Amino acid sequence: MSSYSYEELCERVANAIAGQIKIKSDSCLGLPTGHTPLGVYRYLSEWSRQGRIDWSKARCFALDDYLGTSEENTFHYYLEKNLYSHTNIRPEHKFNPCHTDDYDRLIAEQGGLDLTILGIGGNGHIAFNEPGTIAASWTHCTFLNQSTRVANQDSFGELAHVPTRGLTMGLATILQSRWIILMANGEKKKTIVENAFRGPVTTDLPASLLQKHPRTDVWTDFSLDFSFPAESPALV
Ligand code: GLP
Repeated sequence: MSSYSYEELCERVANAIAGQIKIKSDSCLGLPTGHTPLGVYRYLSEWSRQGRIDWSKARCFALDDYLGTSEENTFHYYLEKNLYSHTNIRPEHKFNPCHTDDYDRLIAEQGGLDLTILGIGGNGHIAFNEPGTIAASWTHCTFLNQSTRVANQDSFGELAHVPTRGLTMGLATILQSRWIILMANGEKKKTIVENAFRGPVTTDLPASLLQKHPRTDVWTDFSLDFSFPAESPALV
């Protein structure tokens, strides 16, 4: 189905986030890290500097973070640098699983996630829910797969410095979000996205559980021979 350039994909996701905040100023947003959303944060930062988005009531929840790394390698730092510092979000509305004992309760107390943006790992992980994570998982500590550590080693210089553990929203946490957008960029993600949304629903491929979610959109910058969700049949 139709595909976008990386810039168009990012602008579309950024628009969805900005629109969500416009419709509901105190929206709770689940936010990813990694390479994929960097363009989204560039758009949001620019629009925020121009005064076009008011983050004063919005709540942002990092999907996950590393355990046992230096401050500048944390996802909290990543979000601060690439998004928060360009917005008027209040410090007490920036949430991270490493900063609280009960992330799920915190999310619930804030009203529940309205919109969660996800990337996808090469092995089908979402946040740090690696293959084999149970569907009924809430926020938890996890060991990172070797392939995840290899994929994320850029900012650490060498593999030995990549943490072995992370804290992550669980699959149940994510599936409770009212709206989910999974974004993927680069042909290297094509097969895993196809397997996740055309293949069986299995915890061996965590993103496939999103097939059961009532409102998940899959947006990519490569072409797929299907849409997710499937396009509604034409009205006759
Ligand atoms: C990381 C993050 C995920 C992210 C994924 C893909 O491990 N925990 O939230 O979606 O990897 O990252 P990238 O966008 O760099 O491919």
